[in-house]
Amino acid sequence: MTKGYLATLLIFPLISLILNLTSAQPASAPGPAGPTNITAILEKGGQFTTLIRLMKSTQVADQINNQLNNSNSGMTIFAPTDNAFNSLAAGTLNSLTDQEKVSLIQFHMIAKYLPTSEFATVSNPLTTQAGNSENGEFPLNVTAAGQQVNISTGVVNATVDNSLYSDGQLAVYQVNQVLLPQSIFGAHSPAAAPAPAEAKKDKSKPTSESPASSDDVDTTSNSATGPAIDQAMRVAFVGSFCLFAWGFL
Ligand SMILES: *[C@@H]1O[C@H](CO)[C@@H](O)[C@H](O)[C@H]1NC(C)=O
Ligand SMILES: *[C@@H]1O[C@H](CO)[C@@H](O)[C@H](O)[C@H]1NC(C)=O
Ligand SMILES: *[C@@H]1O[C@H](CO)[C@@H](O)[C@H](O)[C@H]1NC(C)=O
Ligand SMILES: *[C@@H]1O[C@H](CO)[C@@H](O)[C@H](O)[C@H]1NC(C)=O
Ligand SMILES: *[C@@H]1O[C@H](CO)[C@@H](O)[C@H](O)[C@H]1NC(C)=O
Repeated sequence: MTKGYLATLLIFPLISLILNLTSAQPASAPGPAGPTNITAILEKGGQFTTLIRLMKSTQVADQINNQLNNSNSGMTIFAPTDNAFNSLAAGTLNSLTDQEKVSLIQFHMIAKYLPTSEFATVSNPLTTQAGNSENGEFPLNVTAAGQQVNISTGVVNATVDNSLYSDGQLAVYQVNQVLLPQSIFGAHSPAAAPAPAEAKKDKSKPTSESPASSDDVDTTSNSATGPAIDQAMRVAFVGSFCLFAWGFL
């Protein structure tokens, strides 16, 4: 056994590993087949089970998909995380009538495609799918400066923490609070506003404002094992071939 032989043992697999890694294709997620599916987009986000459940039970999910498929007007959706729903006072959702649940979800929707660049210049209050933004009913204010995007309903203040999806027609943004509308949760209304949990400021930094990065969110974990095994086998194969060839020289 020579030193060179031993070195080969280490070096060739290493080189082939590096070559493999650098030439590896980025896992390009295939575009969604067929019409846009809001449920699938939120499922991919991985932390929106309550919102998905509400959208299904109120049939707003179907409305959204139909609206997207049948018109070119575009849509923006603010998606509260499961944490956001969990921080509501116990029983908040159960206290709502079916119609109020529909309004609550529609209050998170704007019938216009808003890329992040437009947040700084929107005209407040915005009109949501829930209806009238005047007379203290369903006003929604969005203010932005730099990477910070704030939303205020008069009942809660929320921040936009991430861009989940954007295709030029639909934009979906992750928000850290359930957007509670004045008309249902305002001081005067029957369903008294639950005291919002003290803002977790460290969590409110936008992690990504770039729509293009939305695919980065949750694709790595699912597909990690397949390519990793594939990679290991290729390395092993190339490595032993080199070893074999070297033995002949
Ligand atoms: C939308 O996606 C969800 C989750 O992936 C799936 O269960 C549902 O069947 C899809 N709906 C349509 C209309 O394709
Ligand atoms: C989408 O719209 C097209 C035509 O506007 C229609 O033929 C198709 O059935 C619609 N698909 C869904 C899933 O609604
Ligand atoms: C957003 O809210 C935070 C906390 O209340 C505040 O410090 C910041 O100035 C607000 N930014 C904008 C653009 O409204
Ligand atoms: C929303 O913006 C409008 C117009 O700037 C303002 O009059 C109103 O007080 C704001 N409401 C909230 C809850 O921030
Ligand atoms: C929301 O933010 C505004 C301005 O920073 C503040 O005056 C108001 O008290 C906040 N509302 C809540 C519910 O935290």
